[in-house]
Amino acid sequence: MEDYTKYHFDMEEEMQDANKYPEIMQHKIEHHEFIDKLTLLKRDSKKDNLLLSLKTIDYLKDWTINHILGSDKDFGDYLRNFEGT
Ligand SMILES: [Fe+2]
Repeated sequence: MEDYTKYHFDMEEEMQDANKYPEIMQHKIEHHEFIDKLTLLKRDSKKDNLLLSLKTIDYLKDWTINHILGSDKDFGDYLRNFEGT
């Protein structure tokens, strides 16, 4: 999951860079925060800290939904307008 997430974020950021997306820095920060939480989840799961892991999983789920419906959708809207000009 970690490898795929990084791969996906890299591809998305390359697309944003190639299309001069003005919100790219904020988007990269969001991606970076997600990777940090993923790292915590990995660490917690090794410690067998179930409660903390469940909280982290909840965070990851909420982050993913909010990011896709918010920031990623904004980028999609930008691309549609960019390509239409
Ligand atoms: Fe994204």
